[in-house]
Amino acid sequence: MARLSAPARLMIVSDLDHTMVDHHDPENLSLLRFNALWEANYRHDSLLVFSTGRSKTLYKQLRKEKPMLTPDITIMSVGTEITYGDSMVLDDGWIEVLNQKWDRNIVTEETGKFSQLTPQPETEQRPHKVSFFVEKDKAQAVTKALSEVLEKRRLDVKIIYSGGIDLDILPQGAGKGQALAYLHKKFKTEGKLPLNTLVCGDSGNDAELFSIPDVHGVMVSNAQEELLQWHAENAKDNPKIIHATKRCAAGIIEAIGHFHLGPNLSPRDVADLLDSKPESVSPGYEVVKFYLFLERWRRAEFDNSEAYIKSLEADFDPSGVMVYPNGFEQSFSDSVSGLRNYHGDQQGKRFRVWVDRVFASQISSDTWLVKFNKWESYGEERNNCVISAILRSKGNSGFTWIHVHKTWVELPQGKD
Ligand code: GLC
Ligand code: MG
Repeated sequence: MARLSAPARLMIVSDLDHTMVDHHDPENLSLLRFNALWEANYRHDSLLVFSTGRSKTLYKQLRKEKPMLTPDITIMSVGTEITYGDSMVLDDGWIEVLNQKWDRNIVTEETGKFSQLTPQPETEQRPHKVSFFVEKDKAQAVTKALSEVLEKRRLDVKIIYSGGIDLDILPQGAGKGQALAYLHKKFKTEGKLPLNTLVCGDSGNDAELFSIPDVHGVMVSNAQEELLQWHAENAKDNPKIIHATKRCAAGIIEAIGHFHLGPNLSPRDVADLLDSKPESVSPGYEVVKFYLFLERWRRAEFDNSEAYIKSLEADFDPSGVMVYPNGFEQSFSDSVSGLRNYHGDQQGKRFRVWVDRVFASQISSDTWLVKFNKWESYGEERNNCVISAILRSKGNSGFTWIHVHKTWVELPQGKD
């Protein structure tokens, strides 16, 4: 990753469904807690990698439904597609590796003879992944018969069963684990092997992540039987792998703490943010803290007190200006005092604010230019703006906001 000039402090490689994303948590609280922790403490010097079974089509759909951060690297279709950055540039080198001993036509020809296999939707059939649904009680026998048949046809494939329903057939060299090994090798050649890697998963296709040398691993509390069984048979004495006591993203935060990989207190778990003393002050922490304060203010999670307004006034330079997307300019003192009108306007509603891709560059001895995306969701509706802000350091006691400029990326529905 060209973005980092030194090895990443931490690389998190996480599965999405039922690991980073909890489909049983309509409020997405553990995901939002992870997001705040990542942007406040890790984004600037660490790498976030999502590794999912989903194709790009279904991955994009999930991103629209859930408050997910933008990863540095996205590995899709069970380790068969690796892309970089926000614009998702495909790794062609990986495709070449996967072409070895793979013939998709033979796979579809042979699988067509198995009546127990129900093909998955067209979007999930990929150049190096052929996928089916299979009932749990038939999975083992089908897998065995399939691998014998495909071996006879001189193919070297990997068959993976996940979630008690999904069966994927991939080239032998593919899979989430192999994709991670490929990335590690690539980083090593550049002299940028991450100082620590934490892999996170819940189901069968995640198992091989846990067998990559030197990684820490967390199986979230809600992990599937097939993964727990794999662990019991293959890795139960490895102290670098834990079965978390918490679900999904909360289990990831738990593992960061367990293995001492860095800060593990999410700003969302700090009750009085304006009064808190964080482990380290950084522009990222300041941005996360301010937008979390706004969320809580509008949700009326604390009283409308002048002390908060006073404290914000101290954080916003009186001569500073807020430039809105329509070009309207407002002095910081008007913006801050205008906040009084917003206290509790989202009380009892599903209102959340989160920031993504917080990048700061130092532009003078004490001043930072910080650019980030700010998301707001109102239940199903959401909007996204890109914000550039100038912050001046106050030493150990945080930052003063000097200038803020907002631009819409996605307009709130019905507004212009
Ligand atoms: C995702 C994919 C599916 C795959 C499954 C398990 O759900 O959409 O194609 O079979 O992950 O890897
Ligand atoms: Mg999963």
